[in-house]
Amino acid sequence: MCGIVGFVGKQQAAPILLDGLSRLEYRGYDSAGVAVVSPDGGIDVQKSKGRLQVLSDLIHGGEDMKGCIGIGHTRWATHGAPSDVNSHPHLSEGGKFAVIHNGIIENYVEIKEFLIHQGVHFRSETDSEVVAQLLEFYYNECHDFLEAVGRVLRRIEGAYALGMLCADCPDRIIAARKDAPLLLGYGDGEYFIASDVTAIIKHTREVAYMEDGEIAILTTDGIVVEDALQQPVEKQRHHIDWEVSAAEKGGYPHFMLKEIFEQPEALRRAISPRLKDGRVTLDDMKLSAEQIRNFSRIFIVACGSSYHVGMVGKYNLEHLMRRSVEVCLASEFRYSDPIIDDHTLVIVISQSGETLDTMAALREAKARGAYILSIVNVVGSSIARESDDVLYTWAGPEIAVATTKAYSTQLAVLDMIGLAFGEALGTVDSAEYDAAVEGLQKLPEQLEEVLANCADIQKFASEHFNHNSIFFIGRNLDYALGLEGSLKLKEISYIHSEAYASGELKHGTISLIEDGTLVVALGTYGRLFDKAMSNVVEVKARGADVLALTTDAHRAEMEKTVPNVLSIPNTVDMLLPSLGVVPLQLFSYYVALQRGCDIDKPRNLAKSVTVE
Ligand code: G6P
Repeated sequence: MCGIVGFVGKQQAAPILLDGLSRLEYRGYDSAGVAVVSPDGGIDVQKSKGRLQVLSDLIHGGEDMKGCIGIGHTRWATHGAPSDVNSHPHLSEGGKFAVIHNGIIENYVEIKEFLIHQGVHFRSETDSEVVAQLLEFYYNECHDFLEAVGRVLRRIEGAYALGMLCADCPDRIIAARKDAPLLLGYGDGEYFIASDVTAIIKHTREVAYMEDGEIAILTTDGIVVEDALQQPVEKQRHHIDWEVSAAEKGGYPHFMLKEIFEQPEALRRAISPRLKDGRVTLDDMKLSAEQIRNFSRIFIVACGSSYHVGMVGKYNLEHLMRRSVEVCLASEFRYSDPIIDDHTLVIVISQSGETLDTMAALREAKARGAYILSIVNVVGSSIARESDDVLYTWAGPEIAVATTKAYSTQLAVLDMIGLAFGEALGTVDSAEYDAAVEGLQKLPEQLEEVLANCADIQKFASEHFNHNSIFFIGRNLDYALGLEGSLKLKEISYIHSEAYASGELKHGTISLIEDGTLVVALGTYGRLFDKAMSNVVEVKARGADVLALTTDAHRAEMEKTVPNVLSIPNTVDMLLPSLGVVPLQLFSYYVALQRGCDIDKPRNLAKSVTVE
């Protein structure tokens, strides 16, 4: 999704902006642009459709654009096709204002009509251009940059993170935010805005997160922040302790592969501090045992892979807590008139903490009285800040669009919630609890074992990357796991894929199985292994080529029927998907690699979806 970076300092801005934008490439984009306040007066804007490299070549790595104050943007098209003219920054007709925008201006049609009526000529099809044109319109009335910004913000509706330049005030950037992430970076005599900390971490680790309604004015003297009532705001600064290298590939050909291999370490960070003396201890959670006992309804709300974590979690949490758990897609939940009261717990799951639908669902649930416990990776993100309670996954920055280590750590944290709540409710069997804690302790090590044995997966992928369609089947936890395996595959390899609950096959899907159809049969869940086997036999009888995933305990049995078997180490039931997901991630990765796909930046997808 769109990326924003802005710089005010003493160095030439354009190379810094390009570098920042390159670190935001992973979010997904289709065009890029920069604007710099030129030392000769006026604003210099350069932008182009396509990869950032196209823009960089156009301006010789930024060398061609003089000036020490500027803004840059990577665009992910919503209103208007990807094109040079629709790219940001947008310049006002008189050339006085340049604007970059993330989000959607919902009332742009009405504003555009109004401005056209006033004689303003628009160049692009975007909603964002109205901000630049409206700024100039109001500025022509009041001759004050900040006042014009205030008037614009009062007029526009929707979501925005804005970076704005004014040729008449060449010493500053003004930034504003509502419902779209924007942070401020504090360097030594230089200051930044960014949609994501990775854009500026090379320059500073001191950041502050803007809140809805705030306006920031950046000059070389510092950053002044005002709230919507124009009152000064003292921002709380956060120190980012990620290593810059964590956002670089470190010798791996792709971020995705690097992040797959980082999972044992990420899991150690997520799990170890939360296990003490054989007990799950969620010190970072505020909820008391009494509050937990008072919840009568539990929802898990998320999008994409985070939703799939919820699908696994439902099985585990219901088993451990003997409470029904409803898993909802955030985009559906927010408009579903959900039945919520002050005895409702909503567990919100989000890697980025910025997914717009998830955020909107959170607000809906909160407004109806629910307690919000979120599982988030990005510290200080919007969802984290608006939740009553947050458990961080501590997975470190995830750059590849297709999530891997965030999924694994979210799942581990959700499992720990299940165990802690189960204990508080007295619903979990103590031997099972102890085995689960032991399993969690061993999980990172077992994952290393799975990763060490990945040669078979690569070989199988190299033989089966040409399918048009691939099915994942499984029951119970294996079904939930299949949903993620199938999503991963379609995201990065562009192969059509579906995941089915094996029991449903006979009710329709089996008609699609013919000679040579590839079916990934998941049979890790030992209690239903025999049933999984009979589904394997069914699809084989219709000519399917089967790749099976099971546990070491069942490998020999599976091999009697299926020639291609992958296995994961034995563990307690609830942790099977945590191990099982890794071979599926690797399978998708190697299939996509064989097909020559852009693995870290799959077409049409964005890492952080900040529009509806
Ligand atoms: C996008 C990403 C997915 C992610 C989903 C939810 O679609 O491409 O990988 O699972 O958003 O994102 P979140 O940051 O809320 O977990």
